[in-house]
Amino acid sequence: MRQKIVAGNWKMNGNIAEGIALALELKDKLRGLKPELVVCPPLIALEPIAKILTGTNIKIGAQNAYCEAKGAFTGEVSIPMLKGLVQYLIIGHSERRQIFGEQDDLINKKVKACLDAEIIPILCVGETAVIRKAAEQEKFVTEQLKQDLTGLDKVSKAKVVIAYEPIWAIGTGENASPKQVEEICALIRAQGLSENSVLYGGSVNAGNAATLAELPDLDGFLVGGASLKAEEFAQIAANF
Ligand code: PGA
Repeated sequence: MRQKIVAGNWKMNGNIAEGIALALELKDKLRGLKPELVVCPPLIALEPIAKILTGTNIKIGAQNAYCEAKGAFTGEVSIPMLKGLVQYLIIGHSERRQIFGEQDDLINKKVKACLDAEIIPILCVGETAVIRKAAEQEKFVTEQLKQDLTGLDKVSKAKVVIAYEPIWAIGTGENASPKQVEEICALIRAQGLSENSVLYGGSVNAGNAATLAELPDLDGFLVGGASLKAEEFAQIAANF
């Protein structure tokens, strides 16, 4: 079901004490806001932050987890291990794809494991600058979605939150134009995903969020850098 969602991806920023401080600030600043609010702190801070945010209007997400349930996978955390601690999991973020070489078949397994654990996947898709320059973004995103969601039945598929995150707009200060965002959000919906929540991510800030929030096919944001500032994150979320 389409739902307004504003999620903050803290990435690899802040130690436990800094994470707790930010969570306390957010608890205060996000009070009473309407959209579903999600914070995705670094793994080590998930538990203390989950405790702080219990009973508030803020949900918790993890930034990554492995697709297998348990076993000899040194350094990894499984999705069932996160059950009860988080309600959301970011999957297929471009930094995981580009820096850690994650491929669509792995991402597909993670999406399935996430749904099995009743955690909501936030699946990130989006093209590079080179693909956009060649005007092949629609073909590229369609193919990513096809591969990442392969084998899911209709009911499961509808639970996946899709985040359109063009790689050239992430952390660059250059966000996609409303026209570009609307085009891809509409394209995503046309892939049998009309009832899914579709978010945009890529240099969203308090200055550009209002215009984007009006787009008919957009349901929210996945915010990186600006989610580390409680006041700015609250301003962004207040647009829904
Ligand atoms: P940004 O990151 O808002 O810092 O561009 C977005 C993201 O990576 O999800």
